[in-house]
Amino acid sequence: MRGRLDAAAQRALLAEAEAALALAPLRRPMAPWGKPLSVRMSNAGALGWVTDRSGYRYQPAQPGAGGSQNGGPWPPIPPSLLALWADLFRAEAVAPPDCCLINHYPPGAKLGLHRDDTEAETTHPVVSVSLGDAATFRIGGLKRSDPTRSITLESGDVYLLAGARRLLYHGVDRIKRRAPNLLDAHPLFDDGAGGGRLSFTLRVAGATALRA
Ligand code: SIN
Ligand code: FE2
Repeated sequence: MRGRLDAAAQRALLAEAEAALALAPLRRPMAPWGKPLSVRMSNAGALGWVTDRSGYRYQPAQPGAGGSQNGGPWPPIPPSLLALWADLFRAEAVAPPDCCLINHYPPGAKLGLHRDDTEAETTHPVVSVSLGDAATFRIGGLKRSDPTRSITLESGDVYLLAGARRLLYHGVDRIKRRAPNLLDAHPLFDDGAGGGRLSFTLRVAGATALRA
């Protein structure tokens, strides 16, 4: 959905993100194979997606020792994102998201080809919102070796992984710096990590576990 968020909606989301990230700062998590990701991550919602040397998982608490996050609960999902989800699935019986992964891609960061399959049930849709620099997003098939194609995601674009496309391999090849954007000179990035791109990925992570 190209340009789903107009400039005002993008600014409103950025303000909500700032409030969330003040409570759960962005950090570079460790991949299970022992190298930090180039993407900086945080979460909002009842569950957060985390990775470290023991692997990938969802957990209700922020990582504690060793990172800038503090072991407390994740902040609430930004209201404008819950409203977007409700808007998209108005006519369908879709559970609300319980996780919003917040990724920050400084210039040069990438995210390798993967499937979103850590969720308790992988039948629920995934919705992702982009802010800031454009990204070259790669999307493939159900197998890692399937052919892939790339699409450009601009600030305000929204995409869905749903239905037959829910488990497609995808990743972010690179961030395209083209013009100044709303993240530049934002206090969130006064650590020198650059404007770059923020993505907000909404998922129903723990429907089974939470119901049990
Ligand atoms: C993800 O695949 O987890 C996030 C992709 C994105 O940044 O759009
Ligand atoms: Fe993903």
